[in-house]
Amino acid sequence: MAHYLIFLGSTRTTTPPSPARLGERVAKACERLLSSLPHTTAEIIDPLALSLQAPFKPHFAYAQADAPDDLAELADKIAAADGYVMVSPEYNHSMSPALSHLLNHFGASLFAFKPSAIVTYSMGQWGGVRAAVAMRAFLSELGCLPVSAMIHIPRAQEALNLDGHFGQEQERWESYFGRTFGQLMWWAEAASNYKSQIDPTKVSPAFKTAPSQRNAPGSESS
Ligand SMILES: Cc1cc2nc3c(=O)[nH]c(=O)nc-3n(C[C@H](O)[C@H](O)[C@H](O)COP(=O)(O)O)c2cc1C
Repeated sequence: MAHYLIFLGSTRTTTPPSPARLGERVAKACERLLSSLPHTTAEIIDPLALSLQAPFKPHFAYAQADAPDDLAELADKIAAADGYVMVSPEYNHSMSPALSHLLNHFGASLFAFKPSAIVTYSMGQWGGVRAAVAMRAFLSELGCLPVSAMIHIPRAQEALNLDGHFGQEQERWESYFGRTFGQLMWWAEAASNYKSQIDPTKVSPAFKTAPSQRNAPGSESS
């Protein structure tokens, strides 16, 4: 059985623009379609259900036993999941700040060596493609490499009902989602199988103390 986390990249409960939090129906569609596949379970991670602290303090900045319960629980879920679906609206031609803020709470080692799928949407005609391009770099840095097929939903308010079902052309939409989810599942299964032969942290140990651990030799300032 493979388990996927679907990160819902919106906390926008106010209008305009209306409707608010269009991302809920996109995440529901992903959950419905992934869960309908054999040996697959999926769960939506909703940033509104978490009490993210201000000022920003990521999970890895707490002493191990001191992290708030909801952050600690989500860290465990991220570590245990087989792959991720990242659902983002496009805000100012960029990925959702709610999604990047949520993901920034967790170290890359929790996501690494597992695949992700990029799902973007908008109320307009472009479906969030400009946000999606930048998400590739972000997710690669987390180590959950995005699969090549992406899902973009233009006019998501018309394409999807509140419960995550498609208003029209259901078969075409499901086949469009299915291509990306097929790639996600293939890579997730491959990574999981290979992990049982070779522990990835042995060939590439996690950097956990400082960003400078990534530096090339000779690049340290004197
Ligand atoms: C601050 C802000 C910036 C936006 N920028 C874009 C944009 O660059 N491109 C676009 O297609 N839609 C843009 N939109 C429209 C969003 O795609 C639309 O409001 C969508 O419903 C947002 O997702 P959400 O309702 O889940 O938060 C923007 C909306 C907001 C609130």
